[in-house]
Amino acid sequence: MTIPATTPASATDVHIARTERFAAHNYHPLPVVLSSGDGAWVTDIEGRRYLDCLAGYSALNFGHRNPRLLRRANEQLNHLTLTSRAFYNDQLGGFAEALAGLCHKDMVLPMNSGAEAVETAIKVSRKWGYEVKGIPADSARVITMRGNFHGRTTTIVSFSDDDTATGGFGPFAPGFVSVPYGDIDAIRQVITPNTVAVLFEPIQGEGGVVIPPPGFLSRLREVCTRNNILMVADEIQSGLARTGKTFACDHEDVVPDVYILGKTLGGGILPLSAVVADSDILGVVTPGTHGSTFGGNPLASAVGAEVVAMLQTGEYQARAHELGERLRAGLDGLIGSGLSEVRVRGLWAGVDIAPDLMTGREACAGLLARGVLAKDTHGSTVRFAPPLVASEADIDLLVDAVSEVMSDGSAVGGETAGGDGHGVCEQ
Ligand SMILES: Cc1ncc(COP(=O)(O)O)c(C=O)c1O
Repeated sequence: MTIPATTPASATDVHIARTERFAAHNYHPLPVVLSSGDGAWVTDIEGRRYLDCLAGYSALNFGHRNPRLLRRANEQLNHLTLTSRAFYNDQLGGFAEALAGLCHKDMVLPMNSGAEAVETAIKVSRKWGYEVKGIPADSARVITMRGNFHGRTTTIVSFSDDDTATGGFGPFAPGFVSVPYGDIDAIRQVITPNTVAVLFEPIQGEGGVVIPPPGFLSRLREVCTRNNILMVADEIQSGLARTGKTFACDHEDVVPDVYILGKTLGGGILPLSAVVADSDILGVVTPGTHGSTFGGNPLASAVGAEVVAMLQTGEYQARAHELGERLRAGLDGLIGSGLSEVRVRGLWAGVDIAPDLMTGREACAGLLARGVLAKDTHGSTVRFAPPLVASEADIDLLVDAVSEVMSDGSAVGGETAGGDGHGVCEQ
């Protein structure tokens, strides 16, 4: 009797099967299992190397295992990692001072995830509305932008217009009104005496690296000042050097009232987020009104302070600009050859793929096969945000890979293999 030959499951298959079996399916990852990283590159468990052009949704601006950040984290690991805020620790003060200095603001409120920091900014804005602006209790309104992505909590999805984010999760929190992104007249029209804040992304990252019309940020600044409304910039993804400046708002020399920061603030090592503002705003927070067990822990504070020191040199901002111009030149050359639109700010690009060619997911599967990791969003868009420690050759490799995937797609008339057309924003 002959036993039919079976192909042994690869290590990749085993890990994927285990993850799918035991971890909830709130993501739809590409079929690659990563096990190590160094700078702009990662390696999978089969030993294949990939250029990481997602960089943890910009949480890895300094690259994987940045040596300076690892050194600082290791030092702190050997001293003290967690205290809770029931006591002082010897790292939080220095981190808060450094970050406040980077932002030219008075104070910092540390949290962990981006969504927590957005929640914090909403709470602070509401309390500021009641205590400083003097609006009636429970009447505060926050203006938000359509196409936004600010996180996944029940309050935050209350002002999302992504059906996948909202479906099945109601009832939603009141007190929000959304207007088209970048539309200053629409903002003016929905302002009421009870409006406390405009919450916006200076560039909509998950929306597909959508850049507002020139002048929008400065006009928004004027409107907020004139109406005594807080300008609250969610720079969680756009901030901290990604766009070629410390903050995306810097591109119009605009200073918001509140910065919301996260992702790369934790150096790609641990979650660290923060709300940064002057004391007339953050001063409304008093003991017991807000907090988090891990917020401001000494390990995160030590890493965060090192991140700020690295940003103070300006070298990462300059690098994002230089590499971004190279990326722009390469991707612009593919418009009409598979790409219908390219949007670039610093080392951050959103490309729209010609709709009849392939989906964003299929493009990402093609890139994966060529050793490039990237992530699709909203059907036909792919984002590229390589670590800022990438080399010129890495950027050229990315552009070549996109070019090859596009021409392969054209060669088979859009019938590329892989992917399921699943195009929701998953971040
Ligand atoms: C602009 C923006 N705000 C908030 C968040 C939520 O951050 P987190 O996933 O850490 O909760 C994200 C995540 O992608 C983001 O891009």
